[in-house]
Amino acid sequence: MARSSAVFVCSACGNTTSKWSGRCEACGEWNTIQEERAAAAGPPSKTLGASKGRSVPLTDLGHAEAPPPRTASAMAELDRVLGGGLVPGSAILVGGDPGIGKSTLLLQGAAAFAAAGLRVVYISGEEASAQVRMRAERLGLGNAAVQLGAETNLRDILATLDTERPDLVVIDSIQTMWADNVDSAPGSVTQVRAAAHELTSFAKRRGAAVVLVGHVTKEGQIAGPRVVEHMVDTVLYFEGERGHQFRILRAVKNRFGPADEIGVFEMTGAGLAEVANPSALFLSERGTPAPGSVVFAGIEGTRPVLCEMQALVAPTPQAQPRRTVVGWDGGRLAMILAVLEARCGIPFAGLDVYLNVAGGMKVSEPAADLAVAAALLSAREDSALPAETVVFGEISLSGALRPVAQTENRLKEARKLGFTAAIAPRGGKSGDAAGIALTEMGDLAAFVGEIFGAG
Ligand code: TYD
Ligand code: MG
Repeated sequence: MARSSAVFVCSACGNTTSKWSGRCEACGEWNTIQEERAAAAGPPSKTLGASKGRSVPLTDLGHAEAPPPRTASAMAELDRVLGGGLVPGSAILVGGDPGIGKSTLLLQGAAAFAAAGLRVVYISGEEASAQVRMRAERLGLGNAAVQLGAETNLRDILATLDTERPDLVVIDSIQTMWADNVDSAPGSVTQVRAAAHELTSFAKRRGAAVVLVGHVTKEGQIAGPRVVEHMVDTVLYFEGERGHQFRILRAVKNRFGPADEIGVFEMTGAGLAEVANPSALFLSERGTPAPGSVVFAGIEGTRPVLCEMQALVAPTPQAQPRRTVVGWDGGRLAMILAVLEARCGIPFAGLDVYLNVAGGMKVSEPAADLAVAAALLSAREDSALPAETVVFGEISLSGALRPVAQTENRLKEARKLGFTAAIAPRGGKSGDAAGIALTEMGDLAAFVGEIFGAG
């Protein structure tokens, strides 16, 4: 094959290039580029428009469409992340690090949807049926009406599904699937794409919901879930810190519900337990108010969630002080430090800065800016914020505080958890903020002056 030149594909993001390099230009990952043999490339001999196609029926945009019928399970946290239950014919990707608990979550989910009346098939390409059965036994799901299969051959799996006609199929994992019509190793970008394409087509064709499990891989030896993100309707990531018992299922894309929705679980010996009140959980380890600790009233998806921002500021002999962040964006921290220095005259040169979101939570809202600034100042001044106070607000480069969405919901959640005061930007729609003393401020310098008496 003279024309079928080599193609190089990034196993993290699926970007293709014509030459190898150590680092992917598209996603910046190192050592993820692999050679894939491509089918004879080059332009097709005839353009598609030249031959006769079938005409496709078109409908008005205004055409009323009934909302998709959903099935709710007994796992409310899972239903919430799916946008209020499982939609028939949807393709769902569940990504996460190996060992984070994906198989456990999906086995529990499969049992819950089976109990809700769906026909459920669970195909494991990684474990033998006996192993899955043992896991089910341990989770107390020994009698769940879930059909198990241990197989990696996609042709056989699809044939089985075509006769079984399930309502829900779990494929654990997409990287172990093998399509025999594709000349590439299991786990390669080409195989993972082909398998995901076959399975999502099956979902649309038969109206079955298909869940694909995808391991996140750092080494780039097998293709990561990002390679198939664009093919599916819903992308969920299962996250958590290894040392913590909390696990968060986060919707990063959902054609059938809000993105950014989270479901919170706690790992136990008997599987994942749902956490109905995450704020209480994230704040449970908080002791008496200490310098550097600030409670942020955040919103995750449709739900308010309070969490604790912890900062530590310490002198360093190093010329390049450390900036270490866990659970928040490092670039955003640099910005806050720059604004504190430029607009409030508070330098952090010669000081190491550590920032941590307690409980293994990851926060991405800009509304956390003010809470982070407060934690940094509190740590630097070695003085705790007034007790039982929550903080939220976005900081602009000018040092102004910008109001954020859902101020009222944040305040209500804070009050529910026993907080009595809040500091927020001026101009937020606080609505009925009874029971909580709200202090509104227009800029960061005012905040510094009022709370820390400096500026
Ligand atoms: P597993 O579901 O196999 O992870 P993944 O499929 O993402 O690789 O879980 C990993 C291990 O953690 C497994 O040995 C079971 C254990 N585990 C618990 O004991 N309790 C739990 O609640 C969870 C989620 C996992
Ligand atoms: Mg697994």
